[in-house]
Amino acid sequence: MFLFRIFIQFLRNALKDRVIITIDGPAGAGKTTIAKKVAGRLGFRYIDTGAMYRAATLKVLESKIPFNNTEEIAKAVNKSEISLDFSGDEMQVFLDGKDVSEKIRSEEVTENTSLIAAMGPIRGKLVAIQRSSAEKFKKAVFEGRDTGTIVFPDADLKIYLDAGILQRAQRRCREIESRGETVDLDKLQRQIKERDRKDSSRGIAPLRVPEDAVIIDSTSMTIEQVTDKIVELLDQ
Ligand code: DC
Repeated sequence: MFLFRIFIQFLRNALKDRVIITIDGPAGAGKTTIAKKVAGRLGFRYIDTGAMYRAATLKVLESKIPFNNTEEIAKAVNKSEISLDFSGDEMQVFLDGKDVSEKIRSEEVTENTSLIAAMGPIRGKLVAIQRSSAEKFKKAVFEGRDTGTIVFPDADLKIYLDAGILQRAQRRCREIESRGETVDLDKLQRQIKERDRKDSSRGIAPLRVPEDAVIIDSTSMTIEQVTDKIVELLDQ
């Protein structure tokens, strides 16, 4: 009976025209990895919204606008074109027509994105792009900080993905080391805590657990276990 119900729900989701899953949570919780996995299993697209905030930050850095000049920053980002595309299953981010998917992972961009992401006009522009991506791709897993609270309050399934600070820092450490760079684990923990503080305490669209979200603490779960759980939740 239980399997039958899951099967019926699976069919219902397959027949739906638009299905949106949101995954929000703090830095290093594994949102991108899980969003990719879940999307792969379901044949959906995954959208890393943080990559867009990073692209906007890269624009500001490249334009050499001081970070306290919010007016010029808003003008420059509004004039720029930030778009998404896919190469196979991998999401790519374009800034003014150039693929910046690698460039936006630099330490300088990472350090400064919380500042740019706290600016209202920047969020307005990027939220509009995210909503139009949902119209374009129809079935997608969005991950970020406000995708369940602000961008898609009517999402079909909302997840808040969390993990212990040490686990999150170790994950980020492995990710950085896989690019051939070195990093100090203690410094990384401090940086992650600071980013979480900024992302949760800002006035606009702060990081919050959406009211109707399912909280998953992935500290002692494998990627497969978290993926299974989310797919199961959607089927239910
Ligand atoms: O997930 P990430 O580390 O790539 O995110 C980069 C920054 O962008 C992070 O400081 C939080 C911010 N962000 C946001 O404010 N809202 C989102 N929807 C996604 C990311």
